[in-house]
Amino acid sequence: MDFSIKTFDAKSTLANVKSGCVVVGVLEGKQLSAAAKAIDTSGEIAAAVKSGDITGKAGSTLLLRRVAGVTAERVLLVGLGKETPVSLKDFGAAMRAVAHTFAKLGASDGVIALPFDGVKDSTVSQTINCAVLSVQTEAYRFDEMKSKKEPVAQGVGKISFAVAAGDAAAAKTSVADSLALAHGMALTKDLGNLPPNICTPTYLATTARAMAKDFKFGVEILDRKQLEALKMGSFLSVTNGSVEPPKFIVLKHMGGKAKDAPVVLVGKGITFDSGGISLKPGSGMDEMKYDMCGAATVLGAFRAIGELKLKLNVIGVIATCENMPSGSATRPGDIVTSMSGQTIEVLNTDAEGRLVLCDALTYVERFKPAAVVDIATLTGACVVALGNHNTGLFTRHDAAHDTLADELLAAGKITGDTAWRMPIEEAYNDQLKSNFADMANIGTPGGGSITAAAFLERFTRQYTWAHLDIAGTAWKSGSAKGATGRPVPLLMRFLQTRAQAVK
Ligand code: BES
Ligand code: MN
Ligand code: ZN
Repeated sequence: MDFSIKTFDAKSTLANVKSGCVVVGVLEGKQLSAAAKAIDTSGEIAAAVKSGDITGKAGSTLLLRRVAGVTAERVLLVGLGKETPVSLKDFGAAMRAVAHTFAKLGASDGVIALPFDGVKDSTVSQTINCAVLSVQTEAYRFDEMKSKKEPVAQGVGKISFAVAAGDAAAAKTSVADSLALAHGMALTKDLGNLPPNICTPTYLATTARAMAKDFKFGVEILDRKQLEALKMGSFLSVTNGSVEPPKFIVLKHMGGKAKDAPVVLVGKGITFDSGGISLKPGSGMDEMKYDMCGAATVLGAFRAIGELKLKLNVIGVIATCENMPSGSATRPGDIVTSMSGQTIEVLNTDAEGRLVLCDALTYVERFKPAAVVDIATLTGACVVALGNHNTGLFTRHDAAHDTLADELLAAGKITGDTAWRMPIEEAYNDQLKSNFADMANIGTPGGGSITAAAFLERFTRQYTWAHLDIAGTAWKSGSAKGATGRPVPLLMRFLQTRAQAVK
């Protein structure tokens, strides 16, 4: 999609711009937005609104053709809701409706003149971001695996945003930022949506290598032998039942000062989670192809980081393998030794995410990180607790971690890619006791997402750490089944805010 910024003056106006479609807003209560008023010299738009054909309800639309006094072939009216200034929620609904119409419209270009500077508590950058992401999300298709691609609707291919001259520079930067984010999210979705027989650990490694070449990241891919040498007995125990070789991927983007400590992102990359010997029930098991969405999030974030040339040191680490049952698979009752030296009794082979992550979390100590954030589709219990709206956020409870948690929560709030903080207090730790090893890999019943986080916490004491459980937010089930690209927006906002603070 091609986006640009347009500003108007006395001579070149919204009314005389040559375009396939001009988009203006209508407020609930039959009022026109400023831009709608400006082009409505004939009164036709006011008449259409008065007729009740559009209510102004956020996201309602009405397409008019050949409006007198307007050069553009069409005028798309879109409802902005009843609040003035417009709320970001209503603006988002309006923008999604515009994107939806644009995806099917027979016009080759469109000019959007919504009040980008008139949305409550939002900057022009934020509203433009919302606009670009709405359009990109609406245009996203995953038909790589279909032999016959659905014919692509004609759709609007060139979109310009009409902004005040003073906002043009900020709007331009925001378009570039938002496109980088959209490209990152599309990669995260593609990887998530690919089937597990194609998106294997090797496939993820190949993708990372190709990205490293394109964006000049440092890259290292460790194979089984190297992981054995590192004594990653916990990670490797998960791969025992699979014929797919495990991969441990390290990507480095050193966009900051050489001496600055990096932010490290760690992704869970189980390309298929059958549960192993503790086999999952058959119904819905296909969705466990999404168990690599933490890894896909790290790769999507790196796609955006590369495109933005982010001025921050960021290291991405992905532990990826398949969790399968077989004669060589890990058994319930097996005891494994993690890279940290701590021993783990595997009481349930389906609690494999923490087994791969704990070794990755020990590995990253070598980077002396400023902060480590792991991203994992870790527990069904997190979906029970938070549903599909919020990512679960877990950290220790001290001043440094409260600061990190607040940064992540704020980044979620501003992008609409929200997280909710959960507790990890000492009391939950007792639930992980094992009679035979340093700890068990599952807790006693209750608080399953918290005991999982408490397990990880034991491997993160050398640095400031946060854990994002994305089991509920990384994909949608049902008829709209598909990866969401979350929490790439949250992470990118977090990283960009850190990059700005360094400057
Ligand atoms: N990948 C799953 C978690 C999951 C389940 C994500 C459902 C999304 C939807 C994870 O590896 C797992 O199986 N966790 C178990 C842990 C249990 C055995 C302690 C779970 O949540 O049931
Ligand atoms: Mn599992
Ligand atoms: Zn899993």
